[in-house]
Amino acid sequence: AAFSTSSSAYAPVNVKNITVFGSGLMGAGIVQVAAQNAFNVTMVDLNPEALKKGQDIINSSLKRVAKKQFPEDEGKQKEFIEKTFAQIKTSSDAEAASKDADLIIEAIVENLTAKQQLFSRLDKVAPEHALFCSNTSSLPIGEIAKATKREDRFGGLHFFNPVPQMKLVEVIRTSETSQDSFDAFMDVCTRMKKTPISCKDTPGFVVNRLLVPYMMESIRIVERGEATPQDVDTAMKLGAGFPMGPFELLDFVGLDTTKFIVDGWRKEGKVDANLVAPIKILDDLVAKGHLGRKSGQGFYSYQGVGGKK
Ligand code: NAI
Repeated sequence: AAFSTSSSAYAPVNVKNITVFGSGLMGAGIVQVAAQNAFNVTMVDLNPEALKKGQDIINSSLKRVAKKQFPEDEGKQKEFIEKTFAQIKTSSDAEAASKDADLIIEAIVENLTAKQQLFSRLDKVAPEHALFCSNTSSLPIGEIAKATKREDRFGGLHFFNPVPQMKLVEVIRTSETSQDSFDAFMDVCTRMKKTPISCKDTPGFVVNRLLVPYMMESIRIVERGEATPQDVDTAMKLGAGFPMGPFELLDFVGLDTTKFIVDGWRKEGKVDANLVAPIKILDDLVAKGHLGRKSGQGFYSYQGVGGKK
């Protein structure tokens, strides 16, 4: 990138130290990818048990990456894993973990108040130059940023699950995000070997704004008795070239997550109401705890190692 040399007159923050909040599915993935690409990373969660879970997620993912990269060489695999872990510190002290951060990436629970409270605390202790961003899928970045006095240094970095495999990051700029901050966000994505796209602070950004109504419409096809989930999935894979059908995707994402996004958008009122009208089949499955892959049952049933029946 044009601004990566120190001689440049134009000098956005050159991010070296990244602190990631949340060591769950997304946070752990972001930590891993940052560490693999030579950033110094601090992973923060509420307690040691949660951090241990994050480390386990990273460890099993790194083992797969190492085997792929060095198929015949166990020594090199081990070295790669150790080298990556050497880039990662863990902490459950939010303030201490933010003192040296150039960039803070938040991937905690999807709750506006929780995110605002966290950022409001961090705003007081993080360095003046530090950039803040959220990995939220469904909350307005601008609303989270309002909890801080650095709205110009605030944006969205929306990664995709599984983070180590998915190439895309949506970089969200609010009306307040400065050009320097935006450039630094784009630069970080590129250095993580991801492909960034930029998007305004709108519901679902680009990917989910298209995918969620598409998944909802798929359920409506089934609700009207026009086709089965299997037929819809086959249709979209073989007829539209999608790698997964909408019902496979719904089960993968989690039916509760999709319902949460749709319900949130409906309340917010920025998306056409017809696109996010409630659907009985979806609400019933979630009420029964049939949430998709993670619960063993969604639109499909998942049992044991065999995966989808
Ligand atoms: P998760 O439930 O797996 O992990 C969240 C972690 O945050 C937990 O370990 C929890 O202990 C921790 N946490 C909660 N409050 C905290 C705090 N104040 N400080 C530090 N840690 C705290 O959740 P997941 O799926 O990783 O999602 C995290 C964020 O990423 C959400 O905002 C979600 O919308 C977003 N996201 C999720 C995607 C997905 O496919 N799951 C995809 C893209 C974004």
